[in-house]
Amino acid sequence: MEFSIKALSPEAAKAGCVVVGIHSGKQLTPAARRVDQAARGALRKALGDVSGKTGSTLLLRGLPGVAAERVLLVGLGERREFAEAQFRDAVRAAANALKELGAKDAALFLVDAKVGARAPGWNVRHAVLGMREAFYRFDQLKTQKKAPQPALHQVFLPLSSNSKLQDALAEASATADGTALARTLGNLPANICTPAYLAAEAAKLARQFKLGIEVLERRDMEKLGMGALLSVARASHQPAKLIVLRYAGGAKARKPLVLVGKGITFDTGGISLKPAGEMDEMKFDMSGAASVLGTLKALAAMRAPVSVVGVMPACENMPGGAASKPGDVVTTLSGQTVEILNTDAEGRLILCDALAYAARFNPEVVVDIATLTGACVIALGHVASGLFANDQKLADELREAADDACDRVWQMPLWEDYQEQLRSNFADMANIGGRPAGSITAACFLARFTRKLRWAHLDIAGTAWKSGREKGSTGRPVPLLVRFALRHAERK
Ligand code: BES
Ligand code: MN
Ligand code: ZN
Repeated sequence: MEFSIKALSPEAAKAGCVVVGIHSGKQLTPAARRVDQAARGALRKALGDVSGKTGSTLLLRGLPGVAAERVLLVGLGERREFAEAQFRDAVRAAANALKELGAKDAALFLVDAKVGARAPGWNVRHAVLGMREAFYRFDQLKTQKKAPQPALHQVFLPLSSNSKLQDALAEASATADGTALARTLGNLPANICTPAYLAAEAAKLARQFKLGIEVLERRDMEKLGMGALLSVARASHQPAKLIVLRYAGGAKARKPLVLVGKGITFDTGGISLKPAGEMDEMKFDMSGAASVLGTLKALAAMRAPVSVVGVMPACENMPGGAASKPGDVVTTLSGQTVEILNTDAEGRLILCDALAYAARFNPEVVVDIATLTGACVIALGHVASGLFANDQKLADELREAADDACDRVWQMPLWEDYQEQLRSNFADMANIGGRPAGSITAACFLARFTRKLRWAHLDIAGTAWKSGREKGSTGRPVPLLVRFALRHAERK
């Protein structure tokens, strides 16, 4: 799907479909009014009992005096309440209607709406991301494709072009590509998307965009002393990989941003086996790693002026004769020892070694991304990712980027008071802290490995995928990470 920014008039635009907005109370937007005038009131007449409710749509065909074959009216809700959420709902509704329609091209006159204090570049970004999200499909594993690919090839964003808007467009297209990659990797089942598959995917990106790549094998990790990571991979027939992918777009003098993504390609829980119901969803437990690959792809594709190192520990968490057992004690790369009281708390075990390894890149900041705790889903549901940080400035930067990207986060505490829950009688710490504050004690565990770093942790257990009928990866938080990297590059 191609997007182009081009000043057009709604009545004269030669497109398969012209999309215009209407507020509650039949209040036409300026573009809708122009169509109505050109059609000598035919649009208003056709309104009937249209409510203008956010996300509602009405398709009109063959309006007199209008060049486009079809006009799609999209409800924007109350004019006074129109903001980010309504804009995104309207784009989504337009996309879904266009999918049904089968138009080859469309002009999206929704983009000229004033969305709070947002600049027009914000509209461009979210129009592109919303359209691409709605048109994403994952049917590569079905032998009978549901329907032919939707026909929409060209979308015009009717604004008068300038370099800021062109940058926004390039950013959004690359972000949509990166998000789609993360979604597809998440959706692929664990018998296809193995640690080796993730490594091959990273190698593909390295070739395509001339990125640096290094994949550590078990031997390498043994030599380094990554006892925690290797203890998780022990019972799997799939070899563990530590994937390092580097994009160096920033100034030489500036330290890189390091992104660490949890890459458990399947989480059975190990000997602390999970219940059978919905266990299939644990194929999404590599969504953190997928979001790092998606972010690197996006930043490299748009040639962003920032240097990023992606570190992705990847393995399966399986039961078996060689599996770690509750009570086992392992020595981490940092030298600290951990008593594994629950083998299902494996994310923190692979991350603690990856975070210790991240220090080697002399990072400006480190952000890890992980489907870490069910407790985070209980705390924040599927709306916000959990944000934890040992540096408030970094937390603020991430929150602002998240708001800008509509890929929200909510900060949770990392107070020392919680650390005592990780006490162990036999090692430096236990890998679980009991039921209370489960996502906080998980973050506190990681904090013990990042004391010398400016570090933040994103718990994406509730946001990386959807369950139920709409089951599938969301690609979050690629939009947040790309926005964060770009905003970060602009600072100082
Ligand atoms: N991958 C899971 C977290 C998870 C569970 C994400 C459900 C999304 C939905 C993680 O490895 C895990 O199993 N965490 C345990 C930790 C517990 C044993 C302390 C959990 O959350 O139950
Ligand atoms: Mn687990
Ligand atoms: Zn897990």
